[in-house]
Amino acid sequence: MRRILVTSALPNANGAMHLGHLFEHIQTDIWVRFQRMMGNECHYVCADDAHGTATMLAAERAGTTAEAMIESFRREHAEDFRRFLVGHDNYHSTHSAENEHFTAAIYERLAADGRTFTAEVEQLYDAERKLFLADRFVKGTCPRCGEEDQYGDNCQECGATYDATELGEPRSLLSAATPELRSSDHYFFDLAQFSDFLKDWTASDAVQPEVANKLAEWLTGGLKAWDISRDGPYFGFTIPGAGDKYFYVWMDAPIGYMASFKNLCERTEGLDFDDFWAADSEAEVHHFIGKDIINFHCLFWPAVLRGSGYRTPTKVHTHGFITVDGVQMSKSRGTFINAGTYLEHLDPEYLRYYYATKLAANTDDVDISLDDFVQRVNSDLVGKVVNIASRCAGFIHRGFDGVLSASVHDEALWDAVAQARHRLAELYERGDFGRAVREITALADRANQYIAEYEPWKHVNDPDRRDEVQGVCSLGINVFRALVVYLKPILPAMAAKAEAFLRVEPLAWEDAGTPLAGHEIGRFKPLFTRIDRKDVDKVVAATKAEAVAEADDEAEDDGAVISIDDFGKIDLRVAKVLDASFVDGADKLIELRLDLGGTQRTVFAGVREAYDPHALVGRLVVLVANLAPRKMRFGTSEGMVLAAGPGGEDIFLVSPDAGAEPGMQVT
Ligand code: 2FM
Ligand code: ZN
Repeated sequence: MRRILVTSALPNANGAMHLGHLFEHIQTDIWVRFQRMMGNECHYVCADDAHGTATMLAAERAGTTAEAMIESFRREHAEDFRRFLVGHDNYHSTHSAENEHFTAAIYERLAADGRTFTAEVEQLYDAERKLFLADRFVKGTCPRCGEEDQYGDNCQECGATYDATELGEPRSLLSAATPELRSSDHYFFDLAQFSDFLKDWTASDAVQPEVANKLAEWLTGGLKAWDISRDGPYFGFTIPGAGDKYFYVWMDAPIGYMASFKNLCERTEGLDFDDFWAADSEAEVHHFIGKDIINFHCLFWPAVLRGSGYRTPTKVHTHGFITVDGVQMSKSRGTFINAGTYLEHLDPEYLRYYYATKLAANTDDVDISLDDFVQRVNSDLVGKVVNIASRCAGFIHRGFDGVLSASVHDEALWDAVAQARHRLAELYERGDFGRAVREITALADRANQYIAEYEPWKHVNDPDRRDEVQGVCSLGINVFRALVVYLKPILPAMAAKAEAFLRVEPLAWEDAGTPLAGHEIGRFKPLFTRIDRKDVDKVVAATKAEAVAEADDEAEDDGAVISIDDFGKIDLRVAKVLDASFVDGADKLIELRLDLGGTQRTVFAGVREAYDPHALVGRLVVLVANLAPRKMRFGTSEGMVLAAGPGGEDIFLVSPDAGAEPGMQVT
C-alpha cells in the first residue's frame, strides 16, 4: 500500500472561489479518490493563502481587519469545496500557529547554514500610504516601447519585462502620490547554491516533460537569489530577529502545505508528520498546481525543503489555464463564474464530469464551452452510461424479482469491460482523465449496442427466451456497475446512489473485475437528470449581473460617482469626420481630422481594428472637446471620441442621429 499526501495550490484569501480554482481542486480530488479506491492511504490537505499586501489592502477596502476577512473567506472557500464534493481532509490557513512555527524554523535552519544573505534593494515607495509598492500597485510608461499605463513588471503592449524602478512617470495605484525611490535591506534565499540538486530533481520523474524543459531553460540561464522579505506594513509573519521585516507571502505559502498536514496529524490518531516529511520518508508527496506557479513549486520549494533537511516532493502535477470559447474567463461575458453562483442553479457533478472529460496529463490550456458542457453531460453521461441501468433494471424486476442471473451471458463483452480496469487505472494514475472518460464511454456504447441487438423489451414475455432476457439485462447491470466503479472518482455522489440501487457496499476499484451473480438489486431511481440549458443561461445572466454590481461598488469606492456639476465640466460636442487615415507604426490607431462647426481638431482614436478609415469620412461622432491635449509619438491628440465596447474589434463609435450639426453641444 502506498502512503500518499496530496495538495492543491492554496487559494488566495481575498476573493471568492470560482470555476478556475475548481478546475484544479476537482482534478486533485479525482486523483485522490482514485488512489483511495485502489486501496492506498491518501491524505489531501489544503489551506487558504492568507498573507501579502493584497490581503492587507482588500481588508482595508472592506473596512475590516485582515484576520476577520481571511477567516470569513476560509470558511466560505471550505464550504464551496465541500459542496463541489472536493474532499480535503483539512482546509487550514497559512495564517496559523503551525505555519508560523515551520516558517521560522525553516528560515533559521537556512540562515544558520549560510543559505541566506541580506542586500540593499531600491524600490518605489508611496510616501502618502507609507509603503513600498509591489509591481501590481504601480503603473507608468514602458521603458522599452513608451506605451503609457503599464504595470510595474511587464508591458502589455510590447511584452517587455523590467523592474518597476525603470518605469517612466511612475504613479502609485494606491494614492495620487508619485512614488519615490527608497532603499531598504532585504533577505535573500541563495537559490544558486541548489543548482546541481535542482538539475537532478527536475530531470527526474518529479515533473512532466514540458515542465522539465522550461525549468532546464531557467537552470541554464543561471538562478538568481530569491527575495524572501518585505518591509512593513505587511500582513504576514515577521522574520525572527529582523525588526519590521516580514516573510514574503510566497515563502510561507508552500510551507502552508506542511502546516495544514501537521494540524491534521494533531487531530488524527496514528498519523505521523515525520512519516511524510522527514528527509528519508518513504511516503509520497504530490502537489497539483497551475503552470503560472511552476517556479515557486519546482525551483524554490524543493530547494527550501532540501536546504532545511526535509524530503522533496515526489511529483508536481502541472495543469494549464482554462479558457471559455477560446478566450479568458470574463465577468462581463458571464463566464467568470463563482462557485456559489453555479451551485444556485446546477448540480456540482455536472461540472466534475465535464472537467474530467477535458483533463489530460499535460500543461496545455483547456478550452471549455457551455454548449459542449450541456452536450457532454446529457448525451454521454446520461444518454449512454445511466441509460444502461434504466433500460435493464425494469426487466429484472418485472420478470425475475430483481435477481440477476447466475452466469455471464456474453463472456467477451464482460471480459472487455472488466479488463479495462488495468488500463483505466494507468490513465487515472497519470492524470489522463479525459482519455479515461472516452474509453469508459466507448464501453458504454458497446453495452448499449449489445442490449439493442438482443431487444429484451420484445422478448420479455416470451417463455422460451426468459433466460436470454435475464442474461442480457443482468450483464447490462453488471457493465453499468463496472462503469460506476470507473467513474466513481469523478462522480462520488452518483456512485453512492448507484450503490444503493445495486444494493452493494461502497465499490472499490477491483470490484470491476468480478460480476454480481444471483444478486438482488433495488428498484431503479433516476441517478442523474439532464442539464436544462435554461439553468446554464441563468448562471451566465447572474454572473453578468454580479459584474455590473461590482463595477458599481468599485465606482463608489474610487469616489468615481460624480455630481451633475462634475458632469457639466465635460464639454461634449458633435463633430464630423473630414478625413481619416492609418497611422504608420501604430496598429491600433486611426488619425481623424474633425470639423467642430468652424474649428478643426486632430484626434488619434484606437479604432483601427474595427473600422476602415474610408468608411468613417463624413460620419458624425461625439468628441470630448475640452480634454487636455495629449502628446503622442505620432503627434498631439486634441480630444477623444466616444465609443462603446471592450476594444479591439469590439469597439463601436457613438454617433448622434441624423440632423445633428458639427459643433452642437451634447448634453
Ligand atoms: O497563485 C496563487 O493563487 C497562490 N495563492 C498559490 C499558492 S500555492 C502554495 F504555494 F501555497
Ligand atoms: Zn512596452
